[in-house]
Amino acid sequence: MKRGENLYILIIGLSVFIAGCSLDKIPPSTNNKYQSKVDSLLKIMTVEEKIGQLNLLSSSWDVTGPTMNKNYKQLIKEGKAGAIFNAFSVDYVTRLQKLAIEETRLGIPLLFGYDVVHGHRTIFPIPLAQSCSWDMELIEQSDRIAAIEATAEGVNWSFAPMIDVSRDPRWGRVSEGAGEDTWLASLIGAARVKGFQDKDLTDNNTLIACVKHFAAYGAPQAGRDYHTVDMSERSLREYYLPPYQACIEAGARTVMTSFNEIAGVPSTSNRWLFRELLRDEWGFNGFVVTDYTSIYELIPHGVATDSAMAGELALRAGIDMDMQSNIYSKHLKKSLDMGKVSMKDLDQAVSNILLIKYQLGLFDDPYKYCNVQREDTEILTQKSQQFAREFVAQSCVLLKNENNTLPISRSVKKIALIGPLSNSKDDMLGNWSAAGRAEDCVTLYEGLKEKSKTYNYKLEYAIGCNVLEESTSNFNKAIELAKSADYVILALGEHRHLSGEAASRTDIGLPGVQQQLANKIIALGKPTVVVLFNGRPLTIQELNDKAPAILDAWFGGTQSGNGIADILFADAIPSGKLTMTFPKNVGQIPIHYNMKNTGRPVRDENPLYKFTSRYIDAENEPLYPFGYGLSYTKFDYKNLLLNKEEITSTDSIQISVEVSNTGNYDGTEIVQLYLQDIVGSVTRPVKELKGFKKVFIPKGEKVTVSFTLTVNDLKFYDINMNYKFEPGTFNFLIGPNSVSGIKGAFTLL
Ligand code: NOJ
Repeated sequence: MKRGENLYILIIGLSVFIAGCSLDKIPPSTNNKYQSKVDSLLKIMTVEEKIGQLNLLSSSWDVTGPTMNKNYKQLIKEGKAGAIFNAFSVDYVTRLQKLAIEETRLGIPLLFGYDVVHGHRTIFPIPLAQSCSWDMELIEQSDRIAAIEATAEGVNWSFAPMIDVSRDPRWGRVSEGAGEDTWLASLIGAARVKGFQDKDLTDNNTLIACVKHFAAYGAPQAGRDYHTVDMSERSLREYYLPPYQACIEAGARTVMTSFNEIAGVPSTSNRWLFRELLRDEWGFNGFVVTDYTSIYELIPHGVATDSAMAGELALRAGIDMDMQSNIYSKHLKKSLDMGKVSMKDLDQAVSNILLIKYQLGLFDDPYKYCNVQREDTEILTQKSQQFAREFVAQSCVLLKNENNTLPISRSVKKIALIGPLSNSKDDMLGNWSAAGRAEDCVTLYEGLKEKSKTYNYKLEYAIGCNVLEESTSNFNKAIELAKSADYVILALGEHRHLSGEAASRTDIGLPGVQQQLANKIIALGKPTVVVLFNGRPLTIQELNDKAPAILDAWFGGTQSGNGIADILFADAIPSGKLTMTFPKNVGQIPIHYNMKNTGRPVRDENPLYKFTSRYIDAENEPLYPFGYGLSYTKFDYKNLLLNKEEITSTDSIQISVEVSNTGNYDGTEIVQLYLQDIVGSVTRPVKELKGFKKVFIPKGEKVTVSFTLTVNDLKFYDINMNYKFEPGTFNFLIGPNSVSGIKGAFTLL
């Protein structure tokens, strides 16, 4: 038995004893069965061992940031790491965990983190695509599967959900989020936390979630990644903070800082954010981790002169764990000796981390996620592939469908598949693909090939051009192929690294010569659908004007091609709706559906009148609005009904509408409810999403969809920053997207 093991047993024994006699002295927020164990462990730790727990190091298995600690194994042995990320597989995690358990004095187990952003080995649609399903059950279930797969490979901490609201599609990381709406993103964040953490963290197939990036990382100036954020506290609280809070309320155990500053204070040194808001106001009692090298970045931000000062600022701000800067590890002891940080702050940070290690059951069994049998049987299962395929179909958004170009007629004899995304396995993964492998992915070509066995058509494909290429030399081959076919599918868009971290674009149109290729092919006059692969809304006005049909397939992950083929042949009916506005051009950005009216709104009777808030060279309206998406069938909205026209503060109001499926397919509609508080003590948006229902309606049938609203749905931060409702009249819109539907009004007395 090694030294670590002896002490391990001693501590467990001691903790059990203390747990038995001191539980009632622990303050309520930490009054749980583990806090006493943490406290007793803390008592026997040296300062160096405590600081070691605050250090998070990347292994060399994956590169997700700018610097690497090549000696991480040595640092684990020296007790200078509390957690490792970018390491997975039973064999590797076991080996690293052994270093911590057997080679260090106290044998404190390591956490293993990874960016399980949209699946672990089975990759699901990118989060922005997932959000277009408006389906909390699917979203939660996908993260349940992700957690099962990740824990089967040793991972116990997911760096997700990323829930940064963003109104700027130039920012590459919109692909990782849940779109532009605060309320919807809050629901999605909570569902994702539940999916990862499920009911019991001591199970071996649940892992801890990490809400990121706190805070307002999605609002960088000019859409440039890592750039400055400056906004009023009102906007911060009203539009950017609620999704993080929803995740905390759903039980998320960790929070990641963001790279940006807000109003001059970088997140990683922002005491107000982490101590006052997150812990005191919201009651968070997990631990806070920095983003990659964020403590070091306090120096270029210009708030710290050197690494030591950066570490002091971070610890004092309430940042518990240092990802990759190694600054706590190198400087905190000296800062402590010099009285620049307190032992109390250090102990609190260590305690926050140890508590979670206990909650996960790692002290009982540090190898609980290292089970070869699970690794062999619980990854890429048939069931998860089937689920992923259905999720792809639910995430696709039908943007245009003239002349019933879709679905593809089952009598079609030859299909030409053209474009750079037709058969690119790697791109299907989207960005942040964790342990996902290109070879596991089904491309559109492969999905259509499989489908041809059922519908009996010939399929040929030509690349036409590469995503970024400027050459048109492959056009002719593609054009000849299109001429020979009776149906054309154009697979166009971005490649997977054009969105994600550090992938902001100033031009968000179709890259390279793809539009030119599309123009030539569409001009042939064949029935043509564009299948778009993208990690953000794109400016595709020209494509929209010319292509008869456009299906947005985003990046669908492992089962992309199968899920899209299901939609193209009506084996699944499109129902996805956009969660981010598609602008007409970059000049309209930031653009979102819940804008303010201004004092000079565009006049309905004279939209071109000069002195109103508009552009002189483009309309204010987007290309496709928030909430928009078509189906193969048709839904009619009528018979709006309110159970009353006035409500009181103790009342509720019911708004219902009849939705009929008048088309030729059974289908699913996402019925949306928007409200406008016409007059307030502060200005309110022209509309805000307050409810939605995803309903299946067989063809020829109708359903009544009802929403119940109470004053809680009418609250906002008033002129004094109190979260309240105010009496007055509210307009509402109930319909298929944020611009069309049936309008009405009610009054809050
Ligand atoms: C930087 C990213 O901003 C963050 O989202 C990610 O979790 C870390 N790198 C770790 O890979």
